[in-house]
Amino acid sequence: MPAHWSLDDIDWDRFDPSKVDPELLKLVKAASLVEHNGGEYTDFLCKVFDGDQAFLTEVRRWGVEEVQHGKALAKWATLADPSFDFDSAFKRFVEGYRPFEEGATSSKRGSRTGELVARCIVETGTSSYYTAISKQAEEPVLAQICKKIAADEFRHYKLFYDHMRRYQKLEGLGRFGRFRVALGRLGETEDDELAYAFYVANTDPATAYDRVRDARNYTSRAFRQYGKEHVMKAAAMMLKAIGVPSNGHLAKAIGNMGWMFLRRRAQTG
Ligand SMILES: [Fe+2]
Ligand SMILES: [Fe+2]
Repeated sequence: MPAHWSLDDIDWDRFDPSKVDPELLKLVKAASLVEHNGGEYTDFLCKVFDGDQAFLTEVRRWGVEEVQHGKALAKWATLADPSFDFDSAFKRFVEGYRPFEEGATSSKRGSRTGELVARCIVETGTSSYYTAISKQAEEPVLAQICKKIAADEFRHYKLFYDHMRRYQKLEGLGRFGRFRVALGRLGETEDDELAYAFYVANTDPATAYDRVRDARNYTSRAFRQYGKEHVMKAAAMMLKAIGVPSNGHLAKAIGNMGWMFLRRRAQTG
């Protein structure tokens, strides 16, 4: 199955260098590396869900779309900064960051349902992030790319959510188990992957990686992009993934807490 759009659908000739925000450019470079690494995660999911043909067909398309996100963002970043060498940055990124243990064939989330809950959390994060950037970006091509990516990420959430529901019935992972996985995956947001991508994309290799410094550099910029409405929607999507009503007081309270957390992190960069 082909992706929902291609790089040819982007109006590259509308690119306006005078509207490039240098801080947003740093985030886009980092995002291009993480997205492009989706191919490796596809291989991992194919092992975890071996034998589930319906899922594997869809997950291969998902992988193609994630890699395409990386290509579109990298192309934009190179237009904005011709000195950005995506290929060598990506090589450094995959050499320095391993998303899972070599040869892993099962999910560290403990079950297929758990893996799918974790995927829902990731897609919640990406859908809100690209929606936020598409609203923030003044550069028209970046806004267009992020809008298309955000639409894909919402579809990805739905894909993983639908299969998670199916597995949940088979495996019987309850709300508490799903809550634990969601919390665990959420806690990893500030772990190495994004911080390391930010470091590789924006720092001279002669400077050593500093997990705390680079995580702060990343989160302070990334969290600044969000509006409250994006955080409220993300909270509802996360609750839905763990099987809790996503339109009540709890969703509102968690959304408000998330918003306060993001604001604080955004100011401590
Ligand atoms: Fe993506
Ligand atoms: Fe995605």
